[in-house]
Amino acid sequence: MGMDERAGQDLILVTGGAGYVGSHANKLLHRHGYDTVVLDNLAYGHKECSKWGSFVLGDLADRDALLDLFEKNRFTAVMHFAAYTYVGESTDFPEKYYQNNVANTLNLLNAMIEHGVRRMVFSSTCAVYGNPVKIPIPEDHPLDPISPYGRGKQMVETILEDLSEAHGLRYASLRYFNAAGADPEGEIGEWHDPETHLIPLVLDAALGRREDVKIFGTDYDTPDGTCIRDYIHVTDLAAAHLAALEYLETKHKSGIFNLGNGNGFSVRQVIDEARRVTGREIRTRQVERRPGDPDALIGSSEKASRTLGWTPRFTDLPEIIGTAWEWHKKLNSEILRA
Ligand code: UFG
Repeated sequence: MGMDERAGQDLILVTGGAGYVGSHANKLLHRHGYDTVVLDNLAYGHKECSKWGSFVLGDLADRDALLDLFEKNRFTAVMHFAAYTYVGESTDFPEKYYQNNVANTLNLLNAMIEHGVRRMVFSSTCAVYGNPVKIPIPEDHPLDPISPYGRGKQMVETILEDLSEAHGLRYASLRYFNAAGADPEGEIGEWHDPETHLIPLVLDAALGRREDVKIFGTDYDTPDGTCIRDYIHVTDLAAAHLAALEYLETKHKSGIFNLGNGNGFSVRQVIDEARRVTGREIRTRQVERRPGDPDALIGSSEKASRTLGWTPRFTDLPEIIGTAWEWHKKLNSEILRA
């Protein structure tokens, strides 16, 4: 039985499927013949980005609604993207992050166990590592998160481990590095409000919607003094979710995987490349370091490549920024103006 045939029978619950990474995974699931139900409270997600499968407006805090959803649908697996993702905010309002990202995830897991759904692909983060002691970072690098956001994600990983022992849950915890870029077909892309991420802010400056881009710190221990990050294309992240799902189905094992492209780019490199890709002027302003930013974060995704057969396809920066630029122009000219 080919992958697409088997997939044809499968219904996947995609929490946070109206969000940035979730919407791209939802699109790819449909391309591979899966059916999906997107559950999203639209706190940060956008209905316009939930274009495939059915959509349910709902919150993971609502345990009755969750049980009802599992009652009505026979899910074969859950892809769990729904979470708050502002690292800085998590330091100011940790309770908000523990409630939504940890406690509400437990509600979801309870509903899964109760209804015999035993496969989850979980959105984790490289923030579980904290300040790296080794680059590129392997999965067995010490976990020492420095924000409530990262600590909450680590807690969920621990919960998943315990549930897999107790209830035979099979999970893949995917530790993303810096998600970037947009659907190459331009249907969906990054759309945060407020926006805090480097690439969309740089593109905003290119569009003239912002005066300039702040460079947070120029005295880091890197070749040009600005922070280095591992930007991984969102379509590659989506593909890794499918590979992980297939792994859970066929190997019946759990696993933790880094998802990065293995290349680091500095803030200045990103800005220079965005100037080339857009052909526009992008003004910059050097400001103080942002608290909690390590010099460099680069992941080793060797395990994902070996175990899941996943390798990123959009590894060069012009391509990542190019897809983001096409989407960003559309977002500003058509979607936000509509
Ligand atoms: N940066 C700037 N100016 C800006 C915004 C960002 O210089 O206006 C810099 C940051 O200091 C950092 C780099 O650009 O060095 C990337 O910053 P982002 O905010 O785009 O992304 P982060 O690396 O902070 O965050 C990402 C994910 C988080 C995850 C984190 C783990 O968005 O979910 O990686 O480190 F937790």
